[in-house]
Amino acid sequence: MSKNVYLTGFMASGKSTIGPILANTIGWDFFDLDDVIEKKERKKVREIFEEKGEEYFRKVETECLTELSLRENLVISLGGGTVASDKNCSIIKNTGVLIYLKSSPEMAYKRLRFKRDRPQLLFPGDDEPDKSKFINRINLLMEKRIKYYEQADFVIDTDSKPVGKTVDLISAYLRNKLSV
Ligand code: S3P
Repeated sequence: MSKNVYLTGFMASGKSTIGPILANTIGWDFFDLDDVIEKKERKKVREIFEEKGEEYFRKVETECLTELSLRENLVISLGGGTVASDKNCSIIKNTGVLIYLKSSPEMAYKRLRFKRDRPQLLFPGDDEPDKSKFINRINLLMEKRIKYYEQADFVIDTDSKPVGKTVDLISAYLRNKLSV
């Protein structure tokens, strides 16, 4: 069975920040699934959603995940919605260890409210949605995803942890589990 480390969690939970540092720490290669999708499509995630829709994005996401899953010793930062599909979940479970970077809706709001690159959190015609509208959207997505996030092998709360501490805890877990 091939072994990779997959990082999941809501948007802005730290996956893309922690992934490369973790990979460097354990000496594995790093991939960010959104970057792989953008390279393959030669478009930004936001453009893919706008021009071809979410269904198309999810199809490409599964294709890219499948390609990466055939390799070994990779740290892969997934998109926030990647695990929310039974197919993707089984690919991940069969080819590695899933780490859930847990963050609160409040933290997601703080980190994402001025961002315009997350199609799931855009409000057409309302460029400055109020906090409750924004948090409601986050909660709706969370509700659908939580059962997938919680299937992770290791869960780590990232709200109030420095990046270095999170990386230390994950690498200690992996040392034990995978002898890296
Ligand atoms: C998405 C999260 C994004 C990206 C796309 C969809 C989601 O990745 O894959 O915008 O559905 O939660 P990040 O979690 O890295 O922001």
